[in-house]
Amino acid sequence: MSDLSGRVALITGAGSGIGRASALRLSTDGAAVMCADIDEAAAKQTAATIAEHGGRAAAMRLDVTVEEQVKQSLDDTRSEFGDLHVIFNNAGVGGGGRGWQTTLDVNLTGVYFGLFYGAQMLAERGGGAIVNTASVAGLVALVGVGGPAAPLPPTALAAGVGAYVASKHGVIGLTKQFALNYAARGVRVNAVAPGYIYTPMTAAATSNPDAERYLAGLHPMGRLGQPEEIAAAVSFLASDDASFITGIVLPVDGGYTAR
Ligand code: NAI
Repeated sequence: MSDLSGRVALITGAGSGIGRASALRLSTDGAAVMCADIDEAAAKQTAATIAEHGGRAAAMRLDVTVEEQVKQSLDDTRSEFGDLHVIFNNAGVGGGGRGWQTTLDVNLTGVYFGLFYGAQMLAERGGGAIVNTASVAGLVALVGVGGPAAPLPPTALAAGVGAYVASKHGVIGLTKQFALNYAARGVRVNAVAPGYIYTPMTAAATSNPDAERYLAGLHPMGRLGQPEEIAAAVSFLASDDASFITGIVLPVDGGYTAR
């Protein structure tokens, strides 16, 4: 367990999946958590769950594609809980049919806004930690998409999977660049790169037994991951246990990228 007691964290996409699991984990590890999501009701539900377990949390509606809202969310988190220490830029959309622009807007530009305003704010207060959600699709291209498990026409591939892979490779580039820019100012910037994880984003595929088996087989450990397994890595990177770690991409992928 990482020690985040006394820390304040802002998590985007906290209403579901990896963001929700991370909000619960960071709270368990001691942080006060601002749960931000474009789906405000979902964000409130995560905050309510934290409160039920005795943690400190609040919720807000945030569309990470709107620059002004991202800036405001940082200010609002500070007003609610005091100085911010941890930012988890996690909100994202999957590759399935969202189209080039939306995928890039949410997955890449949204992370950029969080880094641009967030790193500055953390540096001004004397440091902190930022974690971004990349993906194995930020390290390698996705195999098998459009194959027998998930047949997609080539146009969908170009608009969907290509955009997803490009956006996640971009997140890794931003992670490294902001890590360098802020290394001397006490702000660590890292990314997690999940393999396929059981969340609503992958539910369409994992509800099909053939597709689920196919996806499990892509991971040498022979299974998909759970959101809590990503949350554990996020908590570590956010904590002082990772005090000399910046600019890395931590695969949490059951060996997916080891081949
Ligand atoms: P999810 O669909 O369960 O959760 C995503 C959350 O982001 C939702 O609550 C959604 O409302 C929110 N969101 C979407 N657009 C937003 C916007 N414009 N502003 C603010 N919030 C917004 O998905 P999951 O799986 O938890 O995904 C979280 C992150 O993990 C994403 O960046 C995704 O690309 C990444 N990821 C997921 C993997 C998986 O297999 N589930 C694998 C690798 C990476």
